[in-house]
Amino acid sequence: MDKFIIRGGAPLCGEVAVSGSKNSALPALAACLLTSDPVTLNRVPRVRDIRTMERLLAYTGAEVDAGEDGRVTVAARNIARPEAPYELVKTMRASSLALGPLVARLGRARVSLPGGCAIGARPINLHVSGLEQLGARIRQSHGYIEAEVPEGLQGAWIHFDRITVTGTEDLLMAATLARGETVIENAAREPEVADLAELLTKMGADIEGAGTSTIRVRGVERLHGAEHTIIADRIEAGTFLIAGAITGGEVVVRECAPKHLAALVARLRQAGCEVKPAGTGALRVKSRGKLRSVDVTTEEYPGFATDLQAQYMALMTQAEGISFITESIFENRFMHALELARMGANIRIEGRQAIVAGPRTLSGAGVIASDLRASASLMLAGLVAGGETLIDRVYHIDRGYEGIERKLQKLGAQIQRVID
Ligand code: EPU
Repeated sequence: MDKFIIRGGAPLCGEVAVSGSKNSALPALAACLLTSDPVTLNRVPRVRDIRTMERLLAYTGAEVDAGEDGRVTVAARNIARPEAPYELVKTMRASSLALGPLVARLGRARVSLPGGCAIGARPINLHVSGLEQLGARIRQSHGYIEAEVPEGLQGAWIHFDRITVTGTEDLLMAATLARGETVIENAAREPEVADLAELLTKMGADIEGAGTSTIRVRGVERLHGAEHTIIADRIEAGTFLIAGAITGGEVVVRECAPKHLAALVARLRQAGCEVKPAGTGALRVKSRGKLRSVDVTTEEYPGFATDLQAQYMALMTQAEGISFITESIFENRFMHALELARMGANIRIEGRQAIVAGPRTLSGAGVIASDLRASASLMLAGLVAGGETLIDRVYHIDRGYEGIERKLQKLGAQIQRVID
């Protein structure tokens, strides 16, 4: 298993370009199952979760042509196996995004149930009940969800009991080929949902309201091929903004979508950093000396992203005062806190709240990455810690950050990958 060795202390300076969004590219790849025509996606990040989704598409029988330049063409002419096997789902829960498109296109699908997850239970009951409302008959057997709808899906009025990002995406994809109109209420408003709707519209779908909490879809007979460029990864962009802030440096984050980062930018400014536009699609973060503690509660978009909570916690270990960090989306997303504490951070966990007292001088230590964003948090802590930090299990980082050590090295970080 690969490891990272980081020597902390250097303020990061320079420019970094953001990759395409992993969480946008995943549903976009799943959407390719909805048509027998080829669909081309640009700016698909070359990260592990994307490779897993590509393997899943290939498993169903789709042809996948993925270049290292981020251009991927999928032609799902014949789907011989409308199935997401456990081997793939267990390494990436987003495999459940195949459920909606497969049922919509073929009238049947078999998708393994995801097991537990490091950050919470993460069930897919809302995807399932949404598809049932569209007329699918669903049963669970041998760890798989089996869905069938011989007569085809029928549009329906769906109200999500709680906001779910991939649940919204799954249902949105399914509804494009359902008969009649589907309304999805309490839909996720994440930019990734709007990006998926843009792709589906290019493929011939009739969608209104994506990016708001009510989405209306009028089903069409068939979808066709299209070409689409994936939006910038707002979580990667946010991680680099925090990297600039935590190391007391000056970093320009290029090729991002500043409007998707508003909640983080507001906190960084309150914490005492200067964050300014630096031309189109770019933000400059500059340290102005001491950081102040600022509380945060994670929320659905446009609130503060849960996917930036761990990185933000690393930042708060360096801020003057006490910050309360409340995690409202996932029930167990504080695994990084214990590892940060091993590096010298003062963090107390009380249920869904982490109380961080700072600033504390961190010292390099051997730490273990438990999930994707937790790993990013440890990496950020390593960049300010004295001495050497050894991060184990960096395959978690490789799931969602493209060439992270190369990008950080360019900013002046001393980070090396050790290949085991
Ligand atoms: N939930 C249910 N039932 C469901 C679906 C969700 O109870 O059927 C609950 C979840 O357990 C959770 C909450 O609803 O407590 C929200 O989960 P959501 O469904 O929105 O999460 P997701 O769609 O599985 C996506 C991202 C995550 C991100 C969350 C929240 C993708 C591929 N994944 O997951 O990204 O944290 O939304 O914004 O889009 C990451 O990139 O590191 C990551 C974990």
